[in-house]
Amino acid sequence: MYNGIAFDSVDMTLPAPTEEPLRQRWFMKRARLLLEKRSRELGRPLTAMVKTFGCQMNERDSEKLRGILETVGYLLTDQEEADFVLYNTCTVRENANLKVYGRLGYLGGLKKKNPHMVIAMCGCMMQEPEVVAKLQQSYRFVNLIFGTHNIYKFAELLVSALENDRMIIDIWKDTDKIVEDLPARRTYAFKSGVNIMFGCNNFCSYCIVPYVRGRERSRRPLDIIREIEGLVKDGVVEIMLLGQNVNSYGKTLEEPVTFAQLLQEIEKIEGLGRIRFMTSHPKDLSDELIAVMKQSKKICRHLHLPLQSGSSRLLKIMNRKYDKEQYLALAEKLRREIPDLSLTTDIIVGFPGETEEDFQDTLDVVRRVRYDSAFTFIYSKRAGTPAAVMENQVPEDVVKDRFDRLLRLVQEIGKERSSRLQGQTLPVLVEHINEQDTSLVTGRLDNNLTVHFPGDESMIGKMVPVSLKECKGFYYLGEAAL
Ligand code: SAH
Ligand code: SF4
Ligand code: F3S
Repeated sequence: MYNGIAFDSVDMTLPAPTEEPLRQRWFMKRARLLLEKRSRELGRPLTAMVKTFGCQMNERDSEKLRGILETVGYLLTDQEEADFVLYNTCTVRENANLKVYGRLGYLGGLKKKNPHMVIAMCGCMMQEPEVVAKLQQSYRFVNLIFGTHNIYKFAELLVSALENDRMIIDIWKDTDKIVEDLPARRTYAFKSGVNIMFGCNNFCSYCIVPYVRGRERSRRPLDIIREIEGLVKDGVVEIMLLGQNVNSYGKTLEEPVTFAQLLQEIEKIEGLGRIRFMTSHPKDLSDELIAVMKQSKKICRHLHLPLQSGSSRLLKIMNRKYDKEQYLALAEKLRREIPDLSLTTDIIVGFPGETEEDFQDTLDVVRRVRYDSAFTFIYSKRAGTPAAVMENQVPEDVVKDRFDRLLRLVQEIGKERSSRLQGQTLPVLVEHINEQDTSLVTGRLDNNLTVHFPGDESMIGKMVPVSLKECKGFYYLGEAAL
């Protein structure tokens, strides 16, 4: 038995089965046998690393990829000087791509020193044909390229890469398949991301995600519950439900279920302490969800509600399907119903045609909603999206100036919002020893704010009541109130 897989029962004298996940288990065993041989020849264990670029969904995918690498016999490391290196890439903004190319040059150098090294690339960037063409042309040392839709086939692809010298490329355009019950190696013992849906159907006009992640599809509630129950048995106390638009969860299932209903089922799981989720699209946020959050003992008092822009004119061109007034009304309702809720957001500055007046609308919403924090992004042109060919791209210096003004406002309000908890005693889930000062531990409040307080390793993964002594802007210094 290894990572939940009974290898002894996988019969290698038979050809690989066609059904999943049995087929992948067969390939995992095959990879394991190949690697055992290679490791014996080299007289040392083989190592592997997966580096993630991008969002929590990519982080979770990387955990699954690591699970398979570990199952087939690699020793996991976080060093790039490894026998197998996999980059799980992001392409949401141009600079995400640039980072990957930069690192890849460095990997090429490492491979010259270790000819056994296998280099693989996967994730969102690989779903863009121009990227694959560029890798084929200028990065010939890459052994394996696959995309987001066939990630479940990683064991099978890995075997191809190990058995062949040529570059293996396997990219699918889309899929409706969801394969359950593959291994995962979690980064944290006590918290985990859980996919509830894949893909996106919204086609916001600036965004590449629907093109690289395919159409929206939801996992069945029972599969999700079973996974969470397993995680809780394994020590997980906090889960983050993941989807590009969790509020439209379940609509396409054979037996439709709402996100709020799913949350109620998850709430019943004993031993689970905290439930988080992201991302919520304002257009689909239901009263049912607000009611469920309000009553819940486990759902965190935190909602990430991307605004993108405060201008109704731009929101229309962005294809967000809400306007400034609707967003403000929703925020007001949330504040009224759940007074202690933390609201956070994403904002894009410099969308094509953005005027000073549009930008003032964004500042206005920020002032009125009073976000606890906000991720602010400079608009990045993504080839293939409708916005990329829009006229009136905003000059760089204008965007930079607006970006700075927005950031100042967001930070000023964020600090004020964060300080409201000073003096209270609240539960903190301890995540790790503080990196700067090892006499402290670092954890998070239910609303996602970071807290540092004196403590030790034994507290990691525990929920500790902490008195919040001093607000330092975006984090607190506190003391355990045991
Ligand atoms: N599904 C989520 C967002 C996923 S992408 C949602 O709809 O909220 C995360 C964030 O990246 C987005 O909210 C947006 O603010 C930003 N983003 C997406 N495409 C971008 C682009 N082309 N340029 C700049 N920021 C972008
Ligand atoms: Fe992109 Fe919009 Fe889908 Fe979010 S909802 S992933 S911003 S297209
Ligand atoms: Fe990036 Fe893909 Fe996530 S493009 S933001 S890693 S869905």
